[in-house]
Amino acid sequence: MEADVRLKNTGLRGVKVADTKISYIDGENGILIYRGYRIEELAVRSSFMEIAFLLLEGTLPTKAELEQFNRNIVAARQVPDFVYDALKHLPKTASPMDVLQATVPLLGLADPELEVETKEANHRKATRLIGRVPVVIAAWHRIRNGEEPLPSDNTLPHAANFLWQLSGRKPDEEMARDLDICLVLHADHTFNASTFACREVVSTQAHMYAGVSAGVGALSGSLHGGANARVMEMLAEVEAQVKSEDDVAAWVKERLGRGKKIMGMGHAVYKTIDPRSTILKRMSQELGRKTGHENWYRLLTKIDEVAEKEFAGLGKANIKSNVDFYSGSVYSMMGIPIDLMTPVFAISRVAGWCAHIIEEKFAEAQGKPALYRPAAEYVGDYCGPIGCTFEPLEERKSASV
Ligand SMILES: CC(C)(COP(=O)(O)OP(=O)(O)OC[C@H]1O[C@@H](n2cnc3c(N)ncnc32)[C@H](O)[C@@H]1OP(=O)(O)O)[C@@H](O)C(=O)NCCC(=O)NCCS
Repeated sequence: MEADVRLKNTGLRGVKVADTKISYIDGENGILIYRGYRIEELAVRSSFMEIAFLLLEGTLPTKAELEQFNRNIVAARQVPDFVYDALKHLPKTASPMDVLQATVPLLGLADPELEVETKEANHRKATRLIGRVPVVIAAWHRIRNGEEPLPSDNTLPHAANFLWQLSGRKPDEEMARDLDICLVLHADHTFNASTFACREVVSTQAHMYAGVSAGVGALSGSLHGGANARVMEMLAEVEAQVKSEDDVAAWVKERLGRGKKIMGMGHAVYKTIDPRSTILKRMSQELGRKTGHENWYRLLTKIDEVAEKEFAGLGKANIKSNVDFYSGSVYSMMGIPIDLMTPVFAISRVAGWCAHIIEEKFAEAQGKPALYRPAAEYVGDYCGPIGCTFEPLEERKSASV
């Protein structure tokens, strides 16, 4: 059967597959909301711990609730020895996202409630994952550099402890606070590719760790979470090739002319500037001043400005900077290596993934959990009403001759 009309792969743009109460994007107006609260206000007034609680529980925590939640996360930083042993056997050249994706199921094996599917147990699993993902990333970084993983400093908040376990140096307080803001900004983003992967996997009634492992895999791609690292590679190329800022326009034109993308720009949902980008741009400028990397900020803003003009000239005026455009420079100034930038995204997004997994499993926003099972248009061989004739192996001729 020859299909008359080929389906264009639209990547499910605009298709609503479920209700959700967790977050909302108004892509036309550049608005992002977690559980009713605007991201701009959360970035200034909340902490990542409050946001993780908000996403999972649906309300902002009281002081006592926050203290208890924080105690649970800190307790979860204890990662069993067999996980460290496994990390020590991995090839040192492995990408940290691959390592993280391989390690999430091991964390599942360490979870005494792995197969317990009550809502309460899933909340406890979420706490363990949020506490342990940064520990695994920091440990992997040290192991691949021939160093021993460091124990957590339980007096330090989430972001600060990650920086400590990564570098062995007590982090600058302002820098740790900036990283905490980055975690707030990345914690959730409706049905993005990785969140949808998590929800799709657990719609089969697979456990939370299976869902999160899929989410890590989806996040690793350069069109999703991998874009922050690609922006830094792009920046290094600009620094090496461009003599003065005036030449950036030519560089952008030439790159687009070769059909290559400007990483960190464009978005499937935002048709204007991503509100997180505005916050990160400011942070990049301030950190640039503090760390002596103002050149990165200057080059990025120049690329941003000339690319926007270029896109407008191509009739694509809605391509603007997204969350990944300035975040790479911010992480670099915090001493985070390029290949750990997407894992840092995962440290934050794991909170959103777990909230969505719980919403999906317990159908909190709609009637009854449903197994995702889309349809496709078959456009392959058919050979008539009863299908193709199966030829015995000895009689088959190669189709490639
Ligand atoms: C994120 C992304 C996949 C969203 O894409 P989208 O809006 O759904 O639509 P498309 O990828 O189909 O893009 C539409 C058009 O704009 C172009 N475009 C989109 N983003 C672009 C970019 N960053 N640089 C150059 N061209 C871009 C596409 O090439 C396409 O052009 P065409 O119609 O001539 O083929 C896309 O903007 C992109 O690849 N950005 C770079 C990677 C990135 O930063 N990812 C992180 C997202 S948070």
